[in-house]
Amino acid sequence: AKYTIVDMETCIACGACGITAPTVFDSDENGLSFVTLDNNQGTAELPEELFYDVEDACFGCPTESIKIADEPFNGNPAKAG
Ligand code: F3S
Repeated sequence: AKYTIVDMETCIACGACGITAPTVFDSDENGLSFVTLDNNQGTAELPEELFYDVEDACFGCPTESIKIADEPFNGNPAKAG
């Protein structure tokens, strides 16, 4: 399984991920992105059909704020994947 989370400390609200993978990423009132699936906890298994969009969003993020791992993040984007 794959999990994703946004490091909202480094996100600069560029908005690219929300365009690439709108089902997974939305932005808060400050424009910072978060994962819709689990309120940015990184605990929801990514549905397989969404994974490639998330991977694209990860590669496209200018600040490398989108993290992907094989294990749940449990709210901590710094957790090694
Ligand atoms: Fe933020 Fe990166 Fe998305 S800067 S809005 S997480 S593409």
